Formats: sequence, structure tokens, C-alpha cells
Amino acid sequence: MPKALLLENIHPNAAQSLRDHGFEVETRSGALGEDELIEALEGVDLLGIRSKTTVTRRVLDARPNLTAIGCFCIGTNQVDLDYAGKKGIAVFNAPYSNTRSVVELVICDIICLMRRIPAHTHHLKHGLWDKSAKGSHEVRGKTLGIVGYGNIGSQLSVLAEAMGMRVVFYDVEEKLAMSNAKRMPTLNDLLEQSDAVTLHVDGRKSNVGFFGEDQFAHMKQDAIFINLSRGFVADLDALKRHLDSGHLSGAAVDVYPVEPKKSGDAFVTPLADEDNMILTPHIGGSTLEAQESIGHFVSQRLEDYWFRASTTLSVNLPQMTLHQGKGAARIAHLHDNLPGVLARVNKVLGEENINISAQSLATEGELGYVVTDVATRPTPAALDALRHLPGTIRMRIIEL
Ligand code: NAI
Repeated sequence: MPKALLLENIHPNAAQSLRDHGFEVETRSGALGEDELIEALEGVDLLGIRSKTTVTRRVLDARPNLTAIGCFCIGTNQVDLDYAGKKGIAVFNAPYSNTRSVVELVICDIICLMRRIPAHTHHLKHGLWDKSAKGSHEVRGKTLGIVGYGNIGSQLSVLAEAMGMRVVFYDVEEKLAMSNAKRMPTLNDLLEQSDAVTLHVDGRKSNVGFFGEDQFAHMKQDAIFINLSRGFVADLDALKRHLDSGHLSGAAVDVYPVEPKKSGDAFVTPLADEDNMILTPHIGGSTLEAQESIGHFVSQRLEDYWFRASTTLSVNLPQMTLHQGKGAARIAHLHDNLPGVLARVNKVLGEENINISAQSLATEGELGYVVTDVATRPTPAALDALRHLPGTIRMRIIEL
């Protein structure tokens, strides 16, 4: 029976799904350190982790028989991806499962800031009844500027328009505008006309410090600023200056340049004393619905890889979407991306008189992946020959 180890309180639907597919599943609530992980991985085929377990080169060297790792989260920095690829270990994540959760929190932030809810709450908590409408606005008719029009930015665009907002966006890549949203030619064009600016850019290196003094200075008087993307993107000291001076009327921040490692740790931010400020501890994507969706999504990717050799959305292997195979067996051959490997695979099969029912090849960077459905099961000698072809990283045979 194949074995899966799921760490860090992954949603129970993942364990259930793997059990339903014939896996023996061990679950543990916490993360494991390097040595503990190596020990726990004995005889394990599939590993499930979230962000707190680091899978290093040492772990991968110690457990070369691991077949795949599922990161039940968005980020994959905790795994040495290149090395896992070189060892033939597929890595999957759930890049889109919490998109809706982030979008809903941004909508909440926009309304709360435009109605000055944090400021009103603060005053009431300190015994002050201030019923004034000063500085409070409906969102209807206001302009929302979305910086980064990817999964989150574009879904936010649709919901914001449904509330009657006018949407403008700026993206470094060509993006299809949703509904009536308007693409801005430059970031400054967006900043100069937006009543609310919200950042949804990705974590590429060039985005470090990309929203600083100059960008805040270009924002409209009394605009609000929201960042639920990455902590290193926005200069929070510059944001504080623009809030303190009265230039900006409020802000919501969910991500920080340095974040505590775990819940319960202390946290200090220069923005804590701001009046109309929403501070959240990187919970944009943290909902039970998102966890459930991640559990479902990643366990499916692992099962697809195990049973069909499908690498759809793998973050470190050439991607290939495969359905139920035809014939007796499927041979998944991962190799160094060198000329002639496909021909050599076919030569071995031809010499054995084995008919190929279907075959696909994908290459990505240093890796090549050829998946062959064969009409008859290859002999042990043929499998051995395939396994020892020059450049072979890993070969798996799946009974069909
Ligand atoms: P995505 O990759 O689908 O979209 C990012 C978009 O930003 C792309 O269209 C890209 O071309 C654009 N972009 C990158 N740099 C840019 C720049 N300097 N100026 C303008 N456009 C730029 O990413 P997705 O899924 O929409 O996520 C967006 C961000 O939200 C990511 O940084 C992600 O890590 C973060 N996130 C935060 C969560 C939270 O809990 N707060 C949860 C989920 C995602």
C-alpha cells in the first residue's frame, strides 16, 4: 500500500481523499525539523506540508524514494525545488485556492476604510461618541486602482464593479480587462485618479520596495491604500508619513517586510497608532473555505501524478496533463533535457516489439519528461534498460 505523510494540520479532506485512493495516510499536527522529517519519511511516497516544514537538499538526499511533495499552501520557497526536480520528485501547490478569500477581504477593507470604521471603533472603545459623517463615503462611484491584474486583481475588479465602483488597473503585462475596467498606461496615471489603491503584484525580485515615497506622493488627497500582496513591496515608513500628514485618509495592511514565524509571537509595527488603519496578520487567504479548497486541490494533483503521471501545475517538472491511459502500462520517464532521449526510449520498446498506444513529451529547463502508454507490459529487462538509459533521472511504471 503506498504511504502518505501529511504534516501541519492539512485539511482532513486531503487525508480522506488519499485514503479513498488506497493510500495509507499518517497525519501530524505540527511541522518537523530536518532530522525528524528524514526519520518520518521512511517508506513514505507522498509528503504533504504547509509553509512551516522546510524540505532541504539533505532531506531529499536522505529519502530519494519520495515520489512527490504537495505544498498545501501558495508558496513553495520552503522546498528546494530545483534539487527536488533533479531527484525526480514532483512538487505541487495550490496557487489559486484562496483567491476569493483575499478578494473578499479587500472589499471589506475598502468599505471599512471609506466609512472610517477603524477610527469610529477606536473612538467608541475610548468612550467617545462621534456620530459625524465627516470623511465617510459610499464606495459607489469611487475609483478603485488595482495594481497587478492577475488572479486576485482581476477577480476583485469584477466584485468592485458590482458594487458600483469604477475600476482602473495597471499591470506590467498585457491583461484582458474585465467588464468596464480600464487599463492605465502608467502606474502614475492610476495613482492620480484612484480613490483607493490596492496592490496585488507578485513576489518577483524587482517588486522589492516598488511602492515607496514617490508612488505615495502621486496618490490623490484623501485616498486610501491597501496592500495584501507581499510585505516587501511597500515602504511602510513612507505610508505612515502620508497618513500622519493627512494626505491619505486610511490604509489596510495584511503583509509586512518581516513577519513573525508563528502565531503567538510578538509583533510591532510603526502603523499601530494610526487612526483609520486596518492591520491584519497575513490572513488575506486564511479562511476555512480556502483551506478546504487547498486540501482538495493539492490532494488531486498528487493523485493525478501518482496514478496518471500527470504533472499539471507542478512547480518543478515539465507540465503535462494526462488522462486515463490506454493499453497495459504507462511509462513515465523523467530525464536530463538532452537530445535523443525520446529516440532511445522508443528504440528499447521497439527492440522488445512493444506497441506504443500513446506518447507525449514535454521539456522545461534542464528536465525532459516522456510518458508512453504501451499495449503490453514491458519485460523486466526492458524496464531495466529504460531505467539505465543515459540521462535518466527517474522512471515510473503505472499499471493501466
Ligand atoms: P498573479 O501572479 O496571478 O498576479 C500578479 C500580477 O501582478 C500579474 O498579472 C503580474 O503581471 C503583475 N505584476 C507583477 N509586478 C508588477 C508591477 N510591478 N506592476 C504592475 N503589475 C505587476 O498573483 P495573484 O494570485 O493574483 O496574487 C497576487 C499577490 O497576492 C501575490 O503576491 C500573492 O503572494 C499575494 N497573496 C497574498 C495572500 C494573503 O494572505 N495576503 C494570499 C494569496 C496571495
